[in-house]
Amino acid sequence: MADNVRVLAVRGLLKILPAEGGGKSLREVLADQPVLLAAERGLLADLMFGVCRHQRLLDHWLNEQMDKPLKSSAKSVRLALLCGIYELWFSERPQHAVVNAWPDVCRALNAPWAAGLCNALMRKASRSSAAEVGRHLDIPVRCSLPDWLWQRLDQAWPEQANDIAEAALLAPPFTMRLSDPSAEAALVEDGFQVRRGSLAPQAAYLSPARPVQQVPGFKEGLLSVQDEAAQLPALLIEAPKGGRILDACAAPGGKTGQLAEYFPDAELIALDIDGSRLQRVRDNLNRLHRSAILLTGDAGKPDSWWDGQPFDAVLLDAPCSATGILRRQPDLKWHRRDSDIDSLCGLQARILDAIWPLVRPGGVLVYATCSILPEENAGQVQAFLARHGDAREDTPVEARSVITAHGCQLLPVADGPDGFFYARMRKTD
Ligand SMILES: C[S@@+](CC[C@H](N)C(=O)[O-])C[C@H]1O[C@@H](n2cnc3c(N)ncnc32)[C@H](O)[C@@H]1O
Repeated sequence: MADNVRVLAVRGLLKILPAEGGGKSLREVLADQPVLLAAERGLLADLMFGVCRHQRLLDHWLNEQMDKPLKSSAKSVRLALLCGIYELWFSERPQHAVVNAWPDVCRALNAPWAAGLCNALMRKASRSSAAEVGRHLDIPVRCSLPDWLWQRLDQAWPEQANDIAEAALLAPPFTMRLSDPSAEAALVEDGFQVRRGSLAPQAAYLSPARPVQQVPGFKEGLLSVQDEAAQLPALLIEAPKGGRILDACAAPGGKTGQLAEYFPDAELIALDIDGSRLQRVRDNLNRLHRSAILLTGDAGKPDSWWDGQPFDAVLLDAPCSATGILRRQPDLKWHRRDSDIDSLCGLQARILDAIWPLVRPGGVLVYATCSILPEENAGQVQAFLARHGDAREDTPVEARSVITAHGCQLLPVADGPDGFFYARMRKTD
């Protein structure tokens, strides 16, 4: 059965990492997989996440071993080899079982010609290790980052860039927002180790990770999966009793649920351009026994959905490069292009400008991204303040953030929060 799972991993990766670029998202492909036993699901996710995380290092080693490159028609064989090398270098599974498994996978992929090659490469890889191979390599190859992204990170964070690159290779923590204080005792009773966060009052780090449906209190809405840094922007929202709040880029609804809990009397509107993703907002709210008005619309074009009544507060959790959460979505490293960053900055500025007139005088706009690129964050806020004379920055500074000219920038921490940015702007009365 495990061999079948390995075949599924290769077929899944073919959709995510086609050699010609593009590709589906890792989460989307994983969600489409057939129902498997928990252990099989674990192996499948490990192989797919692992190859996305370490692709460049694995590829580098593989290319060095080959006298001539594999034909472009042998895409599935290449991915099977990357999976096998990944498994040997990064998993705890017995080496001999891994070495024996991948030639069979090549046969199952209708590439019996590759079984001998695969066997030889697996044996060779088992005598080496990622640490040994990576030791003499430049950081972007060792840490599997595209050159353009490494250059941007190194330029933005010369002192922290190495740590950021290393942190992006680690499995992310399993972080919850506890809506109900009683949730913690039930988690401990169920065998979880629980460590409370130090930034967000409701954050709890759970180990070991488990499918969320099996976490006590999840179905009942006592807790939600949410990174600790992602819990911070909603804490900056201010609205009077019965006030109006807009969550402008709401899906899948992590922060909508939080706002609905914090402001049960407010008129909360959750907007997203992608109507199909709003179903997840609805599911989240139902699970938490909360409600909001859900609207499909473009935050950059309020004329098509706004009723003309001003908002006391707007949360804009903007579409971004997601460079602060590469450990959670490692496929993004291979899907994004350098030119995307300028397009995203343009989109963020357009939405900020379009949404600002909807904030009442004295009201607040909280801008947030899960990016660690300054042009999407402090730079974006600086340009916004320069364009809007009636906006002043009003961000409470989180002591553990990196000092930037505007807002709070958190960098990803191993076993801690994701990389995240937020800033609060207040409209003058
Ligand atoms: C970072 S995600 C939001 C995450 C969400 N706030 C949460 O906490 O679960 C960004 C969202 O923005 C949406 N989006 C992108 N462009 C948009 C636009 N022009 N107007 C409204 N929503 C947009 C995307 O569909 C995506 O769901």
